[in-house]
Amino acid sequence: MSTDPEIARLAACGVVPVVVIDEVEVAVPLAEALLAGGIDVIEITLRRPAAMAALEEVARRVPAILPVAGTVVTPAQAAQVRDAGARAVVSPGFSESVDAAMRATGLPWLPGVSTASDCMRAVEAGRLTCKFFPAEQSGGVPGLKALSGPFPQLRFCPTGGVSLANLGSYLALPQVACVGGSWLVPADAVTSRDWATVTRLSREARAKVAELR
Ligand code: 3PG
Repeated sequence: MSTDPEIARLAACGVVPVVVIDEVEVAVPLAEALLAGGIDVIEITLRRPAAMAALEEVARRVPAILPVAGTVVTPAQAAQVRDAGARAVVSPGFSESVDAAMRATGLPWLPGVSTASDCMRAVEAGRLTCKFFPAEQSGGVPGLKALSGPFPQLRFCPTGGVSLANLGSYLALPQVACVGGSWLVPADAVTSRDWATVTRLSREARAKVAELR
C-alpha cells in the first residue's frame, strides 16, 4: 500500500476527474467548479496543446486542488509536468522509460495496467497504485477482480467507461483506491462555461462516494 500523500489524497476524494482542456482560460474556473462540488483533485490530460499551461495555471492559482498530470506517455513529459507543477502523474500504460523518468522527478506515478504482464511490471517497479485502463472495456468489475487476484499488493484507479451509475461497484472492491473519469467534466459544459453543471456532477459523485464509505 502506498504511503504517498498525493495518492492518499486521490483515494480520500474517491473520484478523479479526467479533463481535457482546449483553452487555458477555463483551467482555473473549472478547478474552482470541481472544488465547489467537493472534489479537490484534477487530472489534466496532455491531449491538447493547452494542457501544460493549464496545469501550470491550476498549480499556481488554485492551491486547494491537487494538480495531477494525465496521459503522460513519453519520458520527456515527466520533467515537463513536474516543472508545470504537477504533484502526481497518471499514464494510460506502463513503460520502463517513463518509469525511470518519473523516478527522476520524485513524483508519484500511476501507470496504466490492463493485463497480468502489466501488473508484473508495475510490481517489479514498485508502482503499487495503478490506473486500471480502459476499465469497462477490459472486463469491468469482474475483469479487475480476476486481474488483481495474483497481485494483492496492488491498488487500482479504474478509469474508462466509469460513471455515476457504476462507480459504486468499483469502489466496493477493497483493491480500488479511487475511480477516474471524464463524466464529471462534460466537454459541452466546458465549452459553454457551464460551471454549475460541473459542480453538480461533482457533488453527486462525492455524495455517492460518501454513501459507500
Ligand atoms: C482516460 O484517459 O482516463 C479516459 O479517457 C477516461 O475515460 P472516460 O472518458 O471513459 O471516463
